[in-house]
Amino acid sequence: MNNLKNLRGTVDLLPEQLIKWQNVEKIVLDQLARASINEIRTPILEMTELFIRGIGEATDVVSKEMYTFIDRGERSCTLRPEGTASVARALIQNGMLSNNPLQKLWYMGPMFRYERPQAGRQRQFHQLGVEFIGYDSVRSDVEIIALAWDVLGKLGIKELNLEINTLGDLDDRLNFQKSFLKWLEINKNSLDLDSQNRITKNPLRILDSKNIQTQKALENAPRLFNFLSEKSHKRYSKLKKNLEVLKIPYVENFNLVRGLDYYTHTAFEITSGALGSQATVCGGGRYDDLIKQMGGPNTPAIGFAIGLERLILLAGKELEIPRKTDIYIINKGLIAESLAMNLSRKLKNYDLLVELDLSGASFSKQFKKANKLKSKSIIVIGDDEAVKGEFLIKLFDKSVNGNEEEVISFENDIKLEKWIKNNLLVN
Ligand code: HAM
Repeated sequence: MNNLKNLRGTVDLLPEQLIKWQNVEKIVLDQLARASINEIRTPILEMTELFIRGIGEATDVVSKEMYTFIDRGERSCTLRPEGTASVARALIQNGMLSNNPLQKLWYMGPMFRYERPQAGRQRQFHQLGVEFIGYDSVRSDVEIIALAWDVLGKLGIKELNLEINTLGDLDDRLNFQKSFLKWLEINKNSLDLDSQNRITKNPLRILDSKNIQTQKALENAPRLFNFLSEKSHKRYSKLKKNLEVLKIPYVENFNLVRGLDYYTHTAFEITSGALGSQATVCGGGRYDDLIKQMGGPNTPAIGFAIGLERLILLAGKELEIPRKTDIYIINKGLIAESLAMNLSRKLKNYDLLVELDLSGASFSKQFKKANKLKSKSIIVIGDDEAVKGEFLIKLFDKSVNGNEEEVISFENDIKLEKWIKNNLLVN
């Protein structure tokens, strides 16, 4: 049999890589907890209809990129390509909005899109998403953008650009679409093939075509911005003013329409020059009609999702450094080994990284291992110590200042705790 391999576009995350993932996740999740945002976990597998109705049938995500299959009960199921539609479903289904019409939620986990894999683009990737549900003020738009901006800033990521746009409300877009379709009919031949195909399916998406010829032609097309109502205009101006007050730099991009159909008013993306062609690390926007459209109460909302693979690429090397071992327990001999196991269990009550040597190898080999790990301290238990009912604990890594060494009886938990506090738990 051939060696089995993972599916194209999926990756194994190995222990060394996960050090950075865990460090990044910790910083990000601390930020979210401080902002009083609660976690929600929804299934990875949903009914296909959820995404057709939620994201839009004509979007690339739904029409080309979903992992959809018929299960044994003949239901059409899909591996979630994003989290917003699932969160909306969960809110409605669990009646969460009747108890609390305002909800701040986050989620993190794998998403699936059948795209062409390349650096920063996978078929199974991970997102961290945040959704503010029930909030309609411009201040909530600003708060959500500031949150995304600060999460990225907290990780020390530089070269970030925030692009914003407004998509107006449904009426604004219908008005625009009428004139845009007229223009498209006349100028069809100046567009690339992909864009021509979108005219009947999803004309708005033509605006963010990356094709140079199409972009040039679009310079003379009607602009959505000019079809916005007075109210939508005011809202957008307020958003820009608020961002300026918070000193969050932004660039307006009138072609930013995003790839999912549920957006209204504010749409934004954060890109980084350091990422290459897949530059968008965060995308989000307002979706005031989605929850109602899916059968829930009329509920405005806004959110974003950060692509974790891209975030990891951007985060600094200092986050790749593993935590150092605090205590390495060197032990040999029958009684010594069982005492060592007991002691290692006791030490798990402290915020320490403890490793018990289970090799049964010679003392010198165990010392070598402790040395290789650059353990801050070691405990030594041999036959002599076992007979006396005590062990030796001593600082091992020369860069750690402290009380050198101590012999402690296995019963003397107070002395052990004191030594740990004085030598290992000091900042
Ligand atoms: P999205 O722009 O489709 O938005 O995805 C958000 C982020 O997920 C992207 O900016 C990118 O960093 C990452 N991403 C998307 N596809 C891939 C891929 N194939 N490989 C690696 N990373 C990827 C959404 O999903 C919306 N649900 C965001 C949102 C939340 N809007 C409102 N609330």
